[in-house]
This record gives sequence, C-alpha cells and structure tokens, in this order.
Amino acid sequence: MVRVAILISGGGSNMVALVRAMQSGTVAADPALVLSNDPDAGGLTKAAELGVPTAVVDHRAYPDRPAFEDALHAELTAAGADVICLAGFMRILTPGFVARWEGRMLNIHPSLLPKYKGLHTHQRALDAGDTEAGCTVHLVTAALDDGPILGKARVPVLPDDTAETLAARVLVQEHQLYPAALARFLDGS
Ligand code: GRF
Repeated sequence: MVRVAILISGGGSNMVALVRAMQSGTVAADPALVLSNDPDAGGLTKAAELGVPTAVVDHRAYPDRPAFEDALHAELTAAGADVICLAGFMRILTPGFVARWEGRMLNIHPSLLPKYKGLHTHQRALDAGDTEAGCTVHLVTAALDDGPILGKARVPVLPDDTAETLAARVLVQEHQLYPAALARFLDGS
C-alpha cells in the first residue's frame, strides 16, 4: 500500500481529512507519518489521537534551509514515505528538496490558482472584488504555488464576507477536495 507522509505547521485540519480518508479506505494509501516543523502544532496531537506516527523537525534548530531539509528528508525516508502531502505547511522548500520528491509531492493552496499565489489569498480576492474563490490541489514544483493542477473547488464570495468568513467556507471545500484529488492522483486518473 502506498505510504503517505503529511507535512503540517499548525492545526492540521486538512491532515485530519486526509488521514480519515485513508483510514476509512476512501483513499487507497496508508498515513505513514505526520510531520511538523513547529513542535507546538496542534495537528500533532490530532494525529496522535488518530493513531498516526508523528515527528517534529524544528526548522529553528538548523543553521540553514538545506540542513533543515536534509533532516526532513531523513525522517520521511525512515518512515518509508512514497508520497508527501503538504497541508498547511508554512516553510518554503528549496528546489533541491523539491527535486528529490517532484512528481510525488502535493500541496493544497487556498485560492483558485494561478490566481493569488502566496499568502493572504482571501483578503486579496475580497480586495479585487471577486465573486468566487476556492482552493487548488497541485503537484509541487520549485516555483511557489505553480505546479500542475490536480483539482479545484469553488465557493461564492458573499457581499458581507470577511477574510475569515471566506476562509471558513473555502476550508470546508479543502477537506473534500484534498482527499478526492489524492485518490485520483494515486489511481493515476
Ligand atoms: C488552509 O487554508 C490551507 O489551504 C493552507 O493552510 C490553511 C490551514 O490549513 N495550506 P490546515 O487547517 O492546517 O490544514
């Protein structure tokens, strides 16, 4: 069975959706590891409660990005990961690390890519007066938020939306999109 490692930095709500989808058999893979760069990430507790092995590679403990990524790679390899899902992971990965996993590393981004790469996506959509927003699952390449798109989900922007209310609406779709996109990716469709 394909072994999936999930990288988080915070609450890990997408991680929970992915783990539950694998544990229920909806996604034909095993959750091999949940790894965070932040030892205080709330998602680590949730992963442990779901019975998934966890690890921390604290980026602040390393002198530079390559050293951090070597430690990251070692944990992923030790866990026997075949595929990586970035899920609220807030570290930018160097081309060197991406090259080692390209084609088997996915990410979810809270906008309708290619619009709004980077941060503060919901506020930017509101500021632009967009009438719809959403999220995208894509393969990770060296360019930020730029790889081949595996799936998208759309939501309406409502007149009284704030970045927070829009983010909450998009997040509901993220939790459905990511497992579906991972399932399709794994069965090659
Ligand atoms: C979500 O908006 C996700 O799209 C982005 O990080 C946010 C938090 O995700 N990548 P999670 O709740 O930690 O999964």
